[in-house]
Amino acid sequence: MSGQKHAIGIDIGGTGIKGGLVDLETGELLSDRIKLPTPEGGEPDGIVEVTKKIVDQLAAEEPDAPVGICFPAIVSHGVTLSAANVSKKWIDLHAEDLFEKSLGRDIHFVNDADAAGYAETSFGAAKGKDGLVIMTTLGTGIGSALIYDGVLIPNAELGHLEIDGHDAESRAAYSAKEREDMSWEKWAKRLQKYYSTLEFLFTPDLFIVGGGVSKNYQEFLPLLDLKTPIVPAVHRNNAGILGAAALAVKG
Ligand code: BGC
Repeated sequence: MSGQKHAIGIDIGGTGIKGGLVDLETGELLSDRIKLPTPEGGEPDGIVEVTKKIVDQLAAEEPDAPVGICFPAIVSHGVTLSAANVSKKWIDLHAEDLFEKSLGRDIHFVNDADAAGYAETSFGAAKGKDGLVIMTTLGTGIGSALIYDGVLIPNAELGHLEIDGHDAESRAAYSAKEREDMSWEKWAKRLQKYYSTLEFLFTPDLFIVGGGVSKNYQEFLPLLDLKTPIVPAVHRNNAGILGAAALAVKG
């Protein structure tokens, strides 16, 4: 499949399903970004149906474009082993098969944070960066991706590190800031603990911070004291789409 210049990327989330046709050389969207709401409850059949609508619409422009889909769960050999903000029916489901049957074509299926991290490596803040890059997405949960010399090491669930007896994402995700009505300063203390722990465990060369809140990075990144450079993601809303598309041609 390499040699393909364009691919369709789909990003499935708890509230919306987004897709676009991606130029794999530049990381630009060649189509409008299509976004439809995730059906209530986030059950497999409903999500597959909405995904099919988006893929069919995008494939009308380019029928042979490979398709990559990213999803908020651990994805191993096409099977979803967890489910974040979608129905628990996804757990242990052969999701890749389900999508392929419904779409009538092969797909490449990956974790959402892995796709976002790969997008930043291919077209964003970590382009051309050697060594270990850790991408984190701060949203409802904390998604994470490990990329070493441009190679993605999939399914690093670093949002679920246990820190001080707590699941890290329950304290440091953006949803925790909102839920507990924390100031930027108070939230930054939680992030300090989180990123210091990651730094100690992995000695990365670069941290990238994504998720919607990263557009306000000036409010919290300067408050962090780390040895590792920490930068905002370049692609926020489209990172999943771009990364899923790029991974679709990687195989
Ligand atoms: C899940 C990850 C996911 C992240 C962002 C976490 O709760 O465990 O698989 O990447 O949320 O959606």
